[in-house]
Amino acid sequence: MILDGKKTSEWIVKKVAEEVSKLSDPITLAIILVGKNPASQVYVRNKGRACNEAGIGVKDYFLDENATQKEVLQLIVECNRDPAINGILVQLPLPSHLDQDLIINTIDPKKDVDGLTIINQGRLFSGMEAVIPATPKGVITLLQKYFIDISGKNALVIGRSNLVGKPLALLLMQKNATVTVAHSRTANLKEVAKRADILVAAIGKPKFVTADMVKKGAVVVDVGINKVEGKIVGDVDFGEVKEIASYITPVPKGIGPMTIASLLENIVICYKMQIQERERQNVS
Ligand SMILES: NC(=O)c1ccc[n+]([C@@H]2O[C@H](COP(=O)([O-])OP(=O)(O)OC[C@H]3O[C@@H](n4cnc5c(N)ncnc54)[C@H](OP(=O)(O)O)[C@@H]3O)[C@@H](O)[C@H]2O)c1
Repeated sequence: MILDGKKTSEWIVKKVAEEVSKLSDPITLAIILVGKNPASQVYVRNKGRACNEAGIGVKDYFLDENATQKEVLQLIVECNRDPAINGILVQLPLPSHLDQDLIINTIDPKKDVDGLTIINQGRLFSGMEAVIPATPKGVITLLQKYFIDISGKNALVIGRSNLVGKPLALLLMQKNATVTVAHSRTANLKEVAKRADILVAAIGKPKFVTADMVKKGAVVVDVGINKVEGKIVGDVDFGEVKEIASYITPVPKGIGPMTIASLLENIVICYKMQIQERERQNVS
């Protein structure tokens, strides 16, 4: 069965739009893009469009490829201070002359809609309330939307990035899965993969996961986005794996739209955190 990320995301966007329409203030996301990476330009455009659909305002800051570290940091500090901006998204990757860690960690954690600051990552690690990175959050939401049981299952996440693999492994563990994380140095990946009831591929290698790596009836989630001969394909060989899996996400129309929908949810969460903070300050 196909895990339809597109349909599920449309439902989420509608829900977010309803919620946004009832809020007392307008809410706005600042999107910072440095340079002209074509893939990043597409992602930024799609995110902006989804915000508009949900009634969330967007302020684009498109900086030159040669923008200095100081200029980017200054912009983030201004956005942190601006009460009319409720979320800050720095589109990655940044040009190599910029210090990505420093830039991300300059974002106020209450405006960190991507959940990438060490504060939000640490909170997630500790099981505290946190802004969860949109892609792993979208994976969990999609599994839950289809009532897929996670508790007690063997889950394998292939990929250990801070953006996807690591936070997803933590989320699956929180949902009581027995989690294995594989990466480029994992030995005997095929045997490891064969044991997984839930297999998530977040690698960045087209059609890497083949049918002989998948246990019959496994749930297969494909996070990968790869461009091959002008077409977008995932990390899973969808054609053959769909014959074995009980559930599988397609690429496109799988985790991509779920990521954008989760980002919208995160913007509203950030807005609410800012309101709470303001109320706390008014009391003290
Ligand atoms: N759908 C979405 O919205 C969305 C969002 C974010 C990312 N993505 C896509 O998801 C994929 C992963 O993204 P990412 O940011 O996590 O990428 P990344 O930072 O490049 O991480 C890739 C991971 O895959 C592992 N890997 C590479 N080759 C491997 C191999 N042969 N066997 C096992 N593991 C291997 C790497 O292992 P090492 O750590 O050992 O190098 C690394 O942990 C990409 O295709 C990206 O475009 C999609």
